[in-house]
Amino acid sequence: MSGKVKVQYLDSSTQEQLTALFKDWKFASFGDIGCIMPTTYANDADNILNMAVRPDDVWVLSFPRSGKNEADTFLNMAIRPDDVWVLTFPRSGKNEADTFLNMAIRPDDVWVLTFPRSGKNDVDTILNMAVRPDDVWVLTFPRSGKNDVDTILNMAVRPDDVWVLTFPRSGKNDVDTILNMAFRPDDVWVLTFPRSGKNDVDTILNMTFRPDDVWVLTFPRSGKNDVDTILNMAVRPDDVWVLTFPRSGTTWTQELVWLVKNNLDYERALKLRLVERFPYLEGTHIVRSDLISVAPEQHQAITRSSFELVANAPSPRFIKSHMPLSLLPAHLLEAKVVYVARDPRDVAVSCYHLSKVLLKYVGDFKTYWNVFAKDLVLYSPYFPHLKEAWAQRHHKHMLFIFYEDMNKDLSSVIKRVASFFGKEFTNEEVAQLCQHLDINNFKKNKAVNAEAFLNAVGTKDESFIRKGKSGTWRDYFDAEMTAQAQSWLNENLADTDLRFPSHS
Ligand code: A3P
Repeated sequence: MSGKVKVQYLDSSTQEQLTALFKDWKFASFGDIGCIMPTTYANDADNILNMAVRPDDVWVLSFPRSGKNEADTFLNMAIRPDDVWVLTFPRSGKNEADTFLNMAIRPDDVWVLTFPRSGKNDVDTILNMAVRPDDVWVLTFPRSGKNDVDTILNMAVRPDDVWVLTFPRSGKNDVDTILNMAFRPDDVWVLTFPRSGKNDVDTILNMTFRPDDVWVLTFPRSGKNDVDTILNMAVRPDDVWVLTFPRSGTTWTQELVWLVKNNLDYERALKLRLVERFPYLEGTHIVRSDLISVAPEQHQAITRSSFELVANAPSPRFIKSHMPLSLLPAHLLEAKVVYVARDPRDVAVSCYHLSKVLLKYVGDFKTYWNVFAKDLVLYSPYFPHLKEAWAQRHHKHMLFIFYEDMNKDLSSVIKRVASFFGKEFTNEEVAQLCQHLDINNFKKNKAVNAEAFLNAVGTKDESFIRKGKSGTWRDYFDAEMTAQAQSWLNENLADTDLRFPSHS
């Protein structure tokens, strides 16, 4: 039902009075009470009277200037979900974008951001937003004052997490990145199997080895394996090398050579262990780490990388190796080399005893000999090893000696060694050196007998300095083995004038 507002225009004298007081205004009275309003109100009076009123409207009615301000009105007003509000600072001519961009943010503010009236939160919006390849993102935890680096470093990692790591926006995964990354020589890498909780050291120590495994060992980060390392190592002209097939009298010869070169300095020879004075070039690969670890004090020298030890040794260096010449530096004979050879049957007996201790060999001697003669023991093949050195025996920097000659006439060998190194000793000095090198003294000499090491690894029945005799192989070979050994020798000596001295 629509209504009509009664309008009463003022008489002309009242109108004139009011116009004089309120410049240019024209008033009329409206409705039953004659409410004074501008005459223009007549246009809307009926509309307002008839307008639709909604139940949830809030109206504030007052006579002007009666004491209620808008703050109350706004604070208490009802807001509907589909309202759209544009807020401005009155007369500022600026919208909220500027206001927000310039507003002060306090560290303890908590912000919940939504797209206005979207009914969806930012999680969905962010998950579904388009990412452009050239975007640059800086991620922080809002208002934490800490960056993600700390957060990530300290976050809890669960064993069943699966992590895929990428460089943001690179479109490449870490595999490529790692394969192509530059390595610096002083990098230290700790490698683990992801999420295994064990490092590779354990894994490798406990792994099962199969007889047909082929291992290529490298120095981490060198990109080269040790074969190359040795072949390319720098040889110094004043180096002294003692080369042998194992158990051919190496230790005995090393001590002899070291004393000759060091003018019979027995004091130092007894104080400093031979393993330190005369490092074992490839020892790193031969002396088992579990044996070293039970005797770290005794064998500090070989617990370090033997290659490093040799590379960093002051000149003149004394170097022991069992490698054949073809696996040593091509320029080796720029330095002086003493090569010791021994009858392979005595070598096999001696190797058999030491293998029980150091290589955990568990078979009997006959089995060992069969493996030896098939050239399957460490440092084999036996004859090519000797023949390579024998071929160089006339080189001025090569001294080729036989264990058997040392055993038969040590003083003659001492004189040969002395002249090889340009030294001369009196007969008394030679005799004194013979005494020092005598098997009975040598056995007791802690600087050479490796006793502390063998004790530490629990060896009671074997010693490093053992019988020290030639021809004891006969106690080990039955008739069949003796014949087989003889034909093996004949076969391998057929194409060479190399012969083992027979003094026995
Ligand atoms: P046996 O096991 O036949 O006794 P290497 O030093 O190359 O490992 O050689 C070890 C062999 O040389 C062992 O042989 C050891 O006893 C012997 N040996 C060590 N010192 C010796 C010495 N002073 N006199 C004689 N033989 C010695």
